[in-house]
Amino acid sequence: MAAPRLNAETKAIIAKLKDHAGRKLADAFTMPKEVYTSGAFHDLELSRVFEREWLCAGRAETLPKAGDFMTYRIGNQPVAIVRQKDGSLSAFSNVCRHRMMTLLEGKGSCRRIVCPYHAWTYDLDGSLIAAKHMEQTNRFDMAKVKLPKVRCEVWNGWIYITLNAKAPTPAMKLAALDEIIADYGAGDYVEVDTQEHVWQTNWKLLTENFMEGYHLPVTHRKTVGAYFPVEDTRFGEGEADDAFTFQWFTKTEDAPVGTAHKKNKRLKGDMRRTSVLGSVYPCHMFVLAPDHLWYLSLQPLGPGEVQIRYGLAFAPELMAEKKLAARITEAKTYLDATNEEDRGVVEGLYRGVQAPLAEPGPLSWLEKENLDFTRYLLRSVAS
Ligand code: FES
Ligand SMILES: [Fe+2]
Repeated sequence: MAAPRLNAETKAIIAKLKDHAGRKLADAFTMPKEVYTSGAFHDLELSRVFEREWLCAGRAETLPKAGDFMTYRIGNQPVAIVRQKDGSLSAFSNVCRHRMMTLLEGKGSCRRIVCPYHAWTYDLDGSLIAAKHMEQTNRFDMAKVKLPKVRCEVWNGWIYITLNAKAPTPAMKLAALDEIIADYGAGDYVEVDTQEHVWQTNWKLLTENFMEGYHLPVTHRKTVGAYFPVEDTRFGEGEADDAFTFQWFTKTEDAPVGTAHKKNKRLKGDMRRTSVLGSVYPCHMFVLAPDHLWYLSLQPLGPGEVQIRYGLAFAPELMAEKKLAARITEAKTYLDATNEEDRGVVEGLYRGVQAPLAEPGPLSWLEKENLDFTRYLLRSVAS
């Protein structure tokens, strides 16, 4: 989409956001209501956040064979990510070069990409290889027709894509986070479940919800909030990073999940029961535990609606366990319940931020990352 120019509405919202972002944590507030509800602000986010950033589409190990594909949307741009015959991953515009029909849907495997409208057919690398009844059309040279490329990289097993030709690679941008999570070996974790959901909320309410642990002992007291001493939360030291925020949390000794398998030789001491809760801006969030990881990636559908891609992956030691199927079911049930708990609060928040009498309230020290995110959002939309 053409980059929207700032108008009076978005300028006023940015001015309020600036006031919030400039405060220290002890004086900080929840973001202004309009950042969650304004359609004009949402359009600005699509062009200044989503169309500029690297976004996580899913896990690379879920596309093992040539022709395996997944789809994703960057703002209004549908993207297909396809495993190539040489083993590499390619991403391209998932829109036909004929009458602009969207091509692939969901996730699957194909030998060729065939448009469902008039069957123009593309090779796995996006080159057009068949188009019937085009012999009378002037200046139609099939060899020159290709689906436009989208940049695609794999970082710690996650597929990242961007429309931004100039963005530094995820490896460069997330080098500091790489150091923090290196010992977990996340690139070797294997996805065992993935789901898509649409929730009635603003994408940022979900990002903010995921990044703070304050709600865990309350909203998630029956699931991930148990065995979780919230007072022990540790944040990284020094200045916040421009590209991500994170916290460590350590499970109690008796926690049934979130601790290292006896065959895990990568993690030592307390790290064997410590997880990293990471948020890569704008909307890739994960819990990386010694035995599993789960992550969310968000595709906003409007100010009040978001599509959620959710995945659960196991550390390699667990994949070798005899009772793998039972473990998957158990972990899935647990995380499905956690997600339902989160859906309840983030949809409730979206109803709340639209209330005429609602006002942003003060933040706790446990919501440091929400302030980091406010500052990130301001940097992105104001430039
Ligand atoms: S729009 Fe794809 S073949 Fe016509
Ligand atoms: Fe939560």
